[in-house]
Amino acid sequence: MSTAKEKLAGKVALVTGAASGIGEASARKLSAEGAALVLSDINEAGAAAVASELVAAGGKAISSQHDVRQPQDWERVLAITIENFGGLDILVNNAGIAADNTELMKLELDQWHKVTSINLDGVFLGMRYAGPALEQRGGGSVINISSILGKVGFPGAAAYCASKGGVSLLTKSAALEWAPLNIRVNSVHPGFVETPLVIEALQNDDDGVAVRELLVAAHPLGRLGQAQEIANAVAFLASDESSFMTGSELVIDGGYTAQ
Ligand SMILES: NC(=O)c1ccc[n+]([C@@H]2O[C@H](COP(=O)([O-])OP(=O)(O)OC[C@H]3O[C@@H](n4cnc5c(N)ncnc54)[C@H](O)[C@@H]3O)[C@@H](O)[C@H]2O)c1
Repeated sequence: MSTAKEKLAGKVALVTGAASGIGEASARKLSAEGAALVLSDINEAGAAAVASELVAAGGKAISSQHDVRQPQDWERVLAITIENFGGLDILVNNAGIAADNTELMKLELDQWHKVTSINLDGVFLGMRYAGPALEQRGGGSVINISSILGKVGFPGAAAYCASKGGVSLLTKSAALEWAPLNIRVNSVHPGFVETPLVIEALQNDDDGVAVRELLVAAHPLGRLGQAQEIANAVAFLASDESSFMTGSELVIDGGYTAQ
């Protein structure tokens, strides 16, 4: 049951990649703030498990299988959203995959497309297909999860950096087009956050322990981030507390890019 204290009471939110990491933490936070949640993920069972927990805790939540690269999946997920909750107010384009640590001179075109199709095409498709639903509602908030690697480069991560940099300017373009529609669009730029995405990448690296230490040292606060710290910012951007923000880049990186 929602209370007036909840920032997002009466709102409907769709979070992609909600089975794990930042997407899962964001879905939990938005639900705690009173929003009805649609949790989508290519990992259907994972999204369903989180949705069940939210319902058990008294929230409103459904889940759906969703490959963000597929236009027809977007159409289906939006239809389910409107059918169940009557509309859409908040879209969190979070689904993404990590760089595969391949240097540019060895990067194959299919590796490039694997990353950019999810991390950039997926965000474009999300806005392309959810935009009309947000407009119909008289406005809304879109939160696109970029990265600090959408602001600065990283060796072995050309496709990832290009995809995340693309998300920044895609966000700003949408923000300008949609300001008259009262749809705010902002990007979030996390530093390295301890999620399965980062933990697995480190485990797959022969020098994983040493790389972890280097990553920790690159964040002036002396640690990696936690998914909850990004989810808090997502909830802020989703709510009226950020009502004068659009087209902005919210950096949450323990000081990584301040250097
Ligand atoms: N963890 C970090 O350090 C970090 C830093 C900056 C940005 N990010 C970004 O945050 C977002 C979430 O990352 P995370 O760290 O929580 O990763 P994660 O691997 O824990 O979660 C990503 C989720 O996306 C889903 N997914 C993957 N491909 C998909 C597809 N085609 N369609 C739908 N869902 C798909 C996965 O099943 C998974 O549940 C990503 O966009 C990532 O690039 C992460």
